[in-house]
Amino acid sequence: MKIMIINGPNLNMLGIREPEIYGKATLKDLENLIIDHCKGNDIEPFFIQSNHEGQLVDAIQDAYFKGFQGIVINPAAYTHTSIALLDALKSVDIPAVEVHLSKVEEREDFRQISYVSKVAITTITGKHFQGYLEAIDILKSHIEYCL
Ligand code: DQA
Repeated sequence: MKIMIINGPNLNMLGIREPEIYGKATLKDLENLIIDHCKGNDIEPFFIQSNHEGQLVDAIQDAYFKGFQGIVINPAAYTHTSIALLDALKSVDIPAVEVHLSKVEEREDFRQISYVSKVAITTITGKHFQGYLEAIDILKSHIEYCL
């Protein structure tokens, strides 16, 4: 099972960026945690992080053309603005789980809209790195159920 893990803008700055919100661990730490979690679970994770909306759209389209069965996406700030990401996810029709490290629903008003959540099978917030692992487990069950 091939799953694409997509991280949006500024998530390459994990460990440096607002550690009181996002923690002190880095994106590499997150990727290593996911690799460990996928080992023995018959899941092959592929990672992409970009600060550019169009590259995130390209990644979603690539997931389709390269035969990925699931997507875990933290669109970061594009969560709240990007119809392009919503349309890309709708276009490929690959099951996607939306993840946020922080509890976005308890933050500023401008973070209260998520376009991606309109297509995601579920949204996980406020569980930091654990949220990505849960997202992978949810996707695995969903994909196996749909087979
Ligand atoms: C975030 C929440 C977003 O509102 C923010 O713009 C981010 C990170 C999170 O993981 O909590 O960059 O997606």
